[in-house]
Amino acid sequence: MHEGKDTFRERLEGLRALSRGLLAGARDAASLEEARVRLLGRKGELTALLRSVGELSVAERPEAGGLANQLKAEIAAALEAAAHELAAGRRAEALDVSLPGRVRPLGTVHPITQVMEEVVATFTRMGFEVEEGPEVELDYYNFEALNMPRDHPARDMQDSFFVSDRVVLRTHTSPIQVRVMEKRQPPLRVIGPGKAFRCDSDVSHTPMFHQVEGFMVDEGVSMANLKAVLGQFAEQTFGAAPLRFRPSFFPFTEPSAEVDIRCTVCGGSGCRVCKGTGWLEILGAGLIDPEVFRAVGVDPERWSGFAFGMGIERIAMLKYGIDDIRLFFDNDLRFLGQF
Ligand code: PHE
Repeated sequence: MHEGKDTFRERLEGLRALSRGLLAGARDAASLEEARVRLLGRKGELTALLRSVGELSVAERPEAGGLANQLKAEIAAALEAAAHELAAGRRAEALDVSLPGRVRPLGTVHPITQVMEEVVATFTRMGFEVEEGPEVELDYYNFEALNMPRDHPARDMQDSFFVSDRVVLRTHTSPIQVRVMEKRQPPLRVIGPGKAFRCDSDVSHTPMFHQVEGFMVDEGVSMANLKAVLGQFAEQTFGAAPLRFRPSFFPFTEPSAEVDIRCTVCGGSGCRVCKGTGWLEILGAGLIDPEVFRAVGVDPERWSGFAFGMGIERIAMLKYGIDDIRLFFDNDLRFLGQF
């Protein structure tokens, strides 16, 4: 009966494979015992195999019985060997501790956020408090209260996104000044970080960018205080960097200045980045105009103050020698990963 013999062989080889798998996988005494019971136990696989020998033809039985007994001995020997290995502690570690770990790619803080946080930290160390304001702002806070009435030509300096007649995406962070002074009386030392928006786009302008506004109001605050505070800032941001104040105009400061640092690329001898001047503009500043104080109910006869506003992208570009502002917003990981 060939069919019976072939089926028997198949079962025998199946059991052999099963026993190898079970024994190789046994990592402790309990699982080894479980394997023993399943393979050699009274109701186990091998007992069943031996029993099936009786179903074969009389002529086939001796050979089949011999093979089954041989497998039984084989399994018993393998069980014993596995028990020894377990006892010797050679099986406990299925883990190759010499393999290098799997490294997860780590994100980094965006360079603009980094510079923003650094700038804010520089000023908080000098006693400035952090205040924020809405990005979608009333025309009143963005322009009117900053001495830029409707139809004032100075509004042209800041190409604006209007949401409605009265509402605008703030074109600078100066409205934070107004909102804070409206709520609180001096003395004040405040730094106001945030996003600003202007309808502008080229290698040095993006429609959304970041600014940090700063102002200080107290009795007797002068340009000398402004110069001292900005000097500290420049030194901590760019290292020993001489400053230059150039007369300028803003409707909300009087006098007004644009502030430059020595060119970080050529050190002052003149290059392409500073257009041969040896200086780089980093911010606008001045003494708060009495008109602004009047709009928020602060007495300009008693209090005076300075204010400044800087673009964070510009500071980051100068700090890291980046020549295209759009790189900050392309989200190319090869660029962002460098900071
Ligand atoms: N708000 C001005 C700008 O964005 C900068 C500035 C702030 C100038 C405060 C003077 C005082 O151009």
